[in-house]
Amino acid sequence: MSNTFGRLFRFTTWGESHGPALGVVVDGCPAGLPLDESDLQRDLDRRRPGQSRVTTQRKEEDRAEILSGVFEGKTTGHPISILIRNKDADSSKYEPLRNLFRPGHADFTYIQKWGIRDHRGGGRSSARETAARVAAGAIAKKLLARLGVSILGYVDQVGEVRWDGAHFDADEIERNIVRCPDAETASRMEAAILEARKAGDSVGGAITVLADGVPAGWGEPLYGRLDSDLAAAMMSINAVKGVEIGSGFRAAGMRGSENNDPFEMKDGEPGVRTNNAGGILGGISTGAPIVVRFAVKPTSSILIEQDTVTTSGEKTTVKVEGRHDPCVATRAVPIGEAMMALVLADHWRLGLGSRIE
Ligand SMILES: Cc1cc2nc3c(=O)[nH]c(=O)nc-3n(C[C@H](O)[C@H](O)[C@H](O)COP(=O)(O)O)c2cc1C
Repeated sequence: MSNTFGRLFRFTTWGESHGPALGVVVDGCPAGLPLDESDLQRDLDRRRPGQSRVTTQRKEEDRAEILSGVFEGKTTGHPISILIRNKDADSSKYEPLRNLFRPGHADFTYIQKWGIRDHRGGGRSSARETAARVAAGAIAKKLLARLGVSILGYVDQVGEVRWDGAHFDADEIERNIVRCPDAETASRMEAAILEARKAGDSVGGAITVLADGVPAGWGEPLYGRLDSDLAAAMMSINAVKGVEIGSGFRAAGMRGSENNDPFEMKDGEPGVRTNNAGGILGGISTGAPIVVRFAVKPTSSILIEQDTVTTSGEKTTVKVEGRHDPCVATRAVPIGEAMMALVLADHWRLGLGSRIE
């Protein structure tokens, strides 16, 4: 089973959507990092359901309790165990779904693999699990901040509405409910989400995550390339269907003369003038910002009737009621940031012994 991610800075999550609690154990955090529950809460609040009219109305407080690995306000170097209780799980809505396969969900594949599944809220396949990774990611972010690395994510596409990149205001991201860096585009995105919800439908989106301050030299080619670990990290988030680094899929339509990033001297050190590589060459950071973009599919649970079959093979239809996000992109922003931080914290540790001088 794969519930653990990372090598030297690693975490293991556990728990189901409608169980009593879920949590995470983070191992490999250096001793001496000041840490308390408020450090985890900011990002948990950004991921939390019930934040706004474009997210699910499930009301979870998502209070993180640190059970181990912190003594007198500092990490001890031992496993940090975090507990998050489930308080607002309403399992009754899932009873009619117990014996059928919801289109777009993991119901079918979980039954194929294990022959048993917790149907309540999707059980382990639910994105409720991402609360635990966000808590782990907050620790990685705090560690990285000490190393001069900062991480920022935002929504750049909702359905057909795409931010054109012209106007970027970092402060705007948390001011609007879709987390887009441009207020005017954000209001068009919000309208697209509300329109999909009104139609009983859902809409997809895309998120960009930037990491600033990563020095040149992080990454473990060949099979621990920074880009391949970031792709695996983002792809492990529920509903993610595509990941790009730098110019990504646009590179397929470009010429080498456009896509190459020319080198130049900056403050006496070689650096890149542009950043189509997304801050990574040969699987190793260049010192330019790391740029990762990922696409989330439209939410699977919709009120529109869809064809399906029961677990015993009879034809039926399903309308998925309950509390669902009409677009998961806005809540995926802190999750993408957490995964970026967790990969970078691991690569910082992995790289510490890479040369003698
Ligand atoms: C933050 C977040 C919230 C999500 N909320 C829902 C939801 O309310 N309803 C739903 O059908 N899917 C939701 N999803 C997506 C499902 O968990 C996911 O599509 C499903 O488990 C199938 O897995 P896959 O899409 O990765 O193949 C959410 C995903 C994320 C990242």
